Amino acid sequence: MNYWDGQIQIGKRKYSRFIGGPLDGITDSPFRRLVRDFSPDNLLYTEMRHVGTIVNKVGGPKALNFMQAERPLNYQVAANSTRFIAEACEKIIAAGVDCIDLNIGCPARNVVNSGGGSALMSDPQLLANILREFRRCLPEQTFTLKIRAGYKHKNGLDIAKLAQDCGVDALAVHPRLQTEKFAGRPDYSLVYEIKKSISIPVIVSGNIVNWATAKSAYEQTGADGFLIGRGIWAKPWKLAELDFNAKTMGQVYPISQEIMLKAAYKHLELMLDYHGKTGMYCFRKHLPFYLRGFTEAQNLRKELMTTESVDYMLSSLSQLVACQQASL
Ligand SMILES: Cc1cc2nc3c(=O)[nH]c(=O)nc-3n(C[C@H](O)[C@H](O)[C@H](O)COP(=O)(O)O)c2cc1C
Repeated sequence: MNYWDGQIQIGKRKYSRFIGGPLDGITDSPFRRLVRDFSPDNLLYTEMRHVGTIVNKVGGPKALNFMQAERPLNYQVAANSTRFIAEACEKIIAAGVDCIDLNIGCPARNVVNSGGGSALMSDPQLLANILREFRRCLPEQTFTLKIRAGYKHKNGLDIAKLAQDCGVDALAVHPRLQTEKFAGRPDYSLVYEIKKSISIPVIVSGNIVNWATAKSAYEQTGADGFLIGRGIWAKPWKLAELDFNAKTMGQVYPISQEIMLKAAYKHLELMLDYHGKTGMYCFRKHLPFYLRGFTEAQNLRKELMTTESVDYMLSSLSQLVACQQASL
């Protein structure tokens, strides 16, 4: 069977090989709902929440920050000890998700200073206790792990084997050290070594933004799936595009500028619906990416980035959509 016709098996379920990765503050609940307009079935990761935050309900009713319409979802957590894991898992499962993911790839200073995120990769004994506790609390549910190449030193291969031994169902690898953050070339040769050495599915993360980079990542790693991070930013159609490319072996995904701008408009609506007026300020992180390449929008961009009027932003975007329709 052609690799690109196949799917990735994670736990008991099969998914498209193209998976929506977690980007804190970007791939949030409104964005994930927008992705569903293009990709109803691809697995999407939530952004990371510490298990203690979930147990203590920080963030009130939105502490679990997702809606059922976003499923299938891999709910991502952080932990720096076995404390809170049992209660957090119970709450997440009760809320209804498809998998739970532990992130030990986070490089953020506040996270590693408390012993969580990628710092856990430097403490295999503690990590093993934490992984076994998750497995104990998730006997029937799917439990995945996201790692880096290592913390300060590259030990991703040992950690991958440990993860498999502790019963993890699938492993996502972002092959950079904590010290590299998100820059430089991801070490795909490490992912190749990991894929060769373990039998659970391996998902590669890092610099996969289109069909050419996905194909090249597969050729270099043999991974079973692809976690799309920054490539999905302001491109909610990205997973659908990659699925189309894989099905047609690289034909150009047919998407019009009108559909792109309509997606931007809907993104703003979903942000307002979720956050109230502050949704407009949050949307500013996305707007320049949506407007890139639209010459008509050059002059508007600055005004939209500074306006305090939700109505002005909505009407300007809807005029841009109308402009595209008129030019057809
Ligand atoms: C702004 C930003 C936020 C991120 N937030 C998370 C996160 O919450 N959890 C996580 O596992 N990875 C997070 N990542 C890492 C990405 O999921 C991904 O592994 C990394 O960016 C490499 O993939 P990419 O080149 O496709 O972006 C974040 C990355 C960025 C740039």
